[in-house]
Amino acid sequence: MSEPDAAYAFGDSAPASERLALVARIFAPSTRSLLARLPARSGRRVLDVGCGPGHTTRLLAEVCGDAHVIGLDRSEVFLAEARRDAGPGGPSFVHADVTTPPLPHAPADVVYARYVLSHLGERAAVLRGWFETLVPEGVLVMEEPEWIEAVEDVLRRYLQITSGLMAARGGELYVGRELGAMARALGGRVLHDDIALVSPTTGDVATMFGLNLRAYRDDPWVLAHYDAATLDRIAAGLAAWRTLTDRGRIRWGVRQMIVERSSGLP
Ligand SMILES: C[S@@+](CC[C@H](N)C(=O)[O-])C[C@H]1O[C@@H](n2cnc3c(N)ncnc32)[C@H](O)[C@@H]1O
Repeated sequence: MSEPDAAYAFGDSAPASERLALVARIFAPSTRSLLARLPARSGRRVLDVGCGPGHTTRLLAEVCGDAHVIGLDRSEVFLAEARRDAGPGGPSFVHADVTTPPLPHAPADVVYARYVLSHLGERAAVLRGWFETLVPEGVLVMEEPEWIEAVEDVLRRYLQITSGLMAARGGELYVGRELGAMARALGGRVLHDDIALVSPTTGDVATMFGLNLRAYRDDPWVLAHYDAATLDRIAAGLAAWRTLTDRGRIRWGVRQMIVERSSGLP
């Protein structure tokens, strides 16, 4: 583990990294569709805030062609993985607390954030800091959960624990619901605002949730609110579903927004 993080509940252990690889695979198609909407400009500087092990950063580098793409994160463990996987000539990675402006390498043409704001407190101020990192006509691109619908009790129980833990750290799992109002308050031009529907296989979701439960089950808040038998029951239920290939037991609504910082705005 790297330095203790006051806010990020899921850590940077091996299961946390494995989970993010699965997150990357599950959500790559909806992220690609969003990135295809970016206004085409060359020579751009792109910041991936809260980049983790660099899955989103590499996707941005692929989509943005000749742009200089830089991933920012607080976890040295994830940054080391990201640098290893980027290879020569790939994106670069810098240690930073993305809640504290100015961000390294500012100003940027694109600031991108996926599943990061949901882990942070003081979200309106953080969002403003990111927005003010942009050059005129630069764009802030965000993806966050609006809702997650699960029909099975074991999945719903996992989501209850996860959202409770995130809230205890000042975050909000379903931060997509706040995003529209916060983004509009920035005063930029909303170029895109929609909800992407994602319906992964039961096996992928069970594996992803099981890894996260392993990553956070010794957290003091979790231990204070859930007994070991309950956590074991959920872990066993998820483990039993790891090979299922059906879809429809769980669906994500991911709020996706692109907001442009208009020229002439402060
Ligand atoms: C759920 S992961 C998302 C990673 C990546 N955006 C993706 O979609 O694969 C959240 C990331 O935000 C990072 N993070 C949380 N709080 C942060 C902060 N204050 N400054 C920088 N990074 C932070 C964590 O270390 C973690 O890598």
